[in-house]
Amino acid sequence: MGLSLRDTLIDQPAKRPQSRARLEPLPSILKVAILGFGTVGRAVAELLCCSPALPLRLTHIYNRNVDRKRVPWIPSRVRWTDNFDEILASDVDVIVELVGGVRPAGDWVRRALHAGKSVVTANKHLIATEGDELLELARKTGQRLEYGASVAGGVPVLCGLEQGLAGEHLFRLTGVLNGTCNYILSKMENEAVSFRDALARAQEMGYTEADPSHDLGGFDASCKLAILARVGLGAQLNPQDVYSRSIEGVEAVDFEYARKLGCTIRQVAIAELKGTELYAAVQPTLVPLGSPLAQTRDNQNVLITAGVHGGETVFAGCGAGGGPTSVAIVSDLVSISRGPSFTGSHNPPELKSYPLNLDLESPRYLRLSVREGTNISDAVGRVLVESGVCVRSVLQKSDSGSTGSVLVMILESCPVSILEVALKRLKELIDCLASAVTLPIMS
Ligand SMILES: NC(=O)c1ccc[n+]([C@@H]2O[C@H](COP(=O)([O-])OP(=O)(O)OC[C@H]3O[C@@H](n4cnc5c(N)ncnc54)[C@H](OP(=O)(O)O)[C@@H]3O)[C@@H](O)[C@H]2O)c1
Repeated sequence: MGLSLRDTLIDQPAKRPQSRARLEPLPSILKVAILGFGTVGRAVAELLCCSPALPLRLTHIYNRNVDRKRVPWIPSRVRWTDNFDEILASDVDVIVELVGGVRPAGDWVRRALHAGKSVVTANKHLIATEGDELLELARKTGQRLEYGASVAGGVPVLCGLEQGLAGEHLFRLTGVLNGTCNYILSKMENEAVSFRDALARAQEMGYTEADPSHDLGGFDASCKLAILARVGLGAQLNPQDVYSRSIEGVEAVDFEYARKLGCTIRQVAIAELKGTELYAAVQPTLVPLGSPLAQTRDNQNVLITAGVHGGETVFAGCGAGGGPTSVAIVSDLVSISRGPSFTGSHNPPELKSYPLNLDLESPRYLRLSVREGTNISDAVGRVLVESGVCVRSVLQKSDSGSTGSVLVMILESCPVSILEVALKRLKELIDCLASAVTLPIMS
């Protein structure tokens, strides 16, 4: 926080842009309360406090045990409270929910809407699981519920889909949507460190949640994919139903083999309408080095949309962190201040339930490691052929050295169900199999 913030604080009256004043009646100043003064809440407060030209005024900050959260740069007229009812009873126009999680956040959003307050949230977990009901409640109560920051942080993907691509028939959304996984995978790629070391570094830097399993296992990206599928494809998607595989198990050596194939590894989320079915997956994937998916680093996110008429469109930028996320939040607040004609509410009128296809088909990378230096190439080849899996090429043959060995193959495209049966048979047959890593290869 630089000195300039205190100098430009919102105790001054907000200035309105001249050009807008000529076009339509002046907007009134929206009174804003922030729930949750953590990474994003703090950044939103900073942005509101140093943007006097915006028709937004921060009036309340709510957090449990709020006294330990106080900072001197918040104007003295802003009320700090740990009593949510005080905010509901106030004349606040919009509540910004930034506590995260489904409970109690969802109950607070409901109570806010019932009390005649609009809501802005960055909470993907809440929107992915209870968004339909909350949006319906917002419609019934005549309030706005905006969640542009819930996917890809500062990258305006939801309004890009909803407004910029409203005329397109989108059929596929492919993205790198989780900053933690991206940090870990790009660290492994660039510094050849192990998964454990990269995870430890992410934890030291404060990039991970206390329990990182939602990030690593794909649930966080599945929630974002569910929101994107709703807005971009008009499809219902429960994040629990997305086919997801953890990035745990990927090792530095996999990046070496990926590079030989002109690829790197990213956690890729994909939702695709194929005929009458919806295909939805989040998993570590080999992506070509030239693809925008491969170019993402650290906390960057990217989304590639594919449409029938306009082909592919790429959205990219900072997907996490207080600064970028606060921009998305304040942009939603500005949209609310402009009135109903400016809206979207990020929700198509009718959502369709497509049958899910989780039997994903693609060529795959397979790495098998054995504890002792047994040559397993022949046995593996036999099991794969018997199971209906064709080997396209062998990158590394296993041998009979004393320190264990590795077999790396590229497999022809086949449904994942067939591969899973083959892997099960391999585990039964080969006692010394230490690990089996399979990654789809994106063309
Ligand atoms: N961080 C990002 O880069 C990012 C990006 C996009 C979206 N988001 C989303 O933005 C939201 C906030 O994330 P964040 O990173 O700012 O989280 P955070 O740093 O953990 O902040 C959460 C804040 O809410 C408070 N809080 C939590 N539970 C509460 C409760 N039951 N009652 C009262 N206060 C409570 C916490 O207080 P304590 O200090 O007492 O715990 C903390 O101040 C989440 O939904 C997250 O998914 C975050």
